[in-house]
Amino acid sequence: MIGVFDSGFGGLTILKNLQKALPQYDYLYLGDNARAPYGSRSFETIFRYTLQAVRELFSRGCPLVILACNTASAKALRSIQQDVLPYEFPDKRVLGIVRPTAEEIGKFSKTGHIGIFGTAGTVSSGSYLIEIKHFYPELHVTQHACPMWVPLVEYGERESEGAKFFVKKDIDALLAEDPEIDTLLLACTHYPLLEGAIRAALPGNVKLVFQGDIVAEKTVDYLRRHPEMENRLTKNGKSRFLTTDTAKFFEKGASLFGMTGFSAESITF
Ligand code: DGL
Repeated sequence: MIGVFDSGFGGLTILKNLQKALPQYDYLYLGDNARAPYGSRSFETIFRYTLQAVRELFSRGCPLVILACNTASAKALRSIQQDVLPYEFPDKRVLGIVRPTAEEIGKFSKTGHIGIFGTAGTVSSGSYLIEIKHFYPELHVTQHACPMWVPLVEYGERESEGAKFFVKKDIDALLAEDPEIDTLLLACTHYPLLEGAIRAALPGNVKLVFQGDIVAEKTVDYLRRHPEMENRLTKNGKSRFLTTDTAKFFEKGASLFGMTGFSAESITF
């Protein structure tokens, strides 16, 4: 199976794109709902939680795990790849969603000015700035944290007046900082669900970029380049869902993300 990890529900937006681009594979999704959100937690905490989840997915038969969470990718991936895998799991792989997005983002901008919205953790980690600099050293990147957006989605308020207010406030703040921005990256798994409010507040000349498509395309490419990993993945087109909270809580929340008709399994680790 391909393991897909997120702090909670948000990774479902990435899973959906993976299932669409690579429907033949089996997926094991793990949401750490009992400890979500990760957005404002420390580096050490996010590393510890993410590593526990990765170990769990490895032990349940996933040779490849995708951290479908920007905060976990930004704050835990590098340490897991460098300090854990080579010593404990040399035959397993963990991929994130920051680098594949950084590889592509420069292609969308004409002015060379882009904006990034993410959680406080993603923004403060500086991971996008570091990764984008590798691929597009000339690109002018302005980041902005939107701490209200995840709760707005999770509490079912995405179409409310409150959502419209906070979305407009954050977009105005970003564009006031750099009026030349012509590309806006949603670097948090929850933010695509606010698309309606975002489009309503965003000037028509600013292109909105979603990560799900990019991550799916990059995963297709990764598996093409790594047949030794591809051969190890089971292919029954099935998905299973694990959560650290109750199954009921997960199933209900997942429906807000358009994922219905499944039974989740509650686990502890
Ligand atoms: N999944 C997280 C991300 O993409 C958002 C939710 C959280 O803060 O845990 O950054």
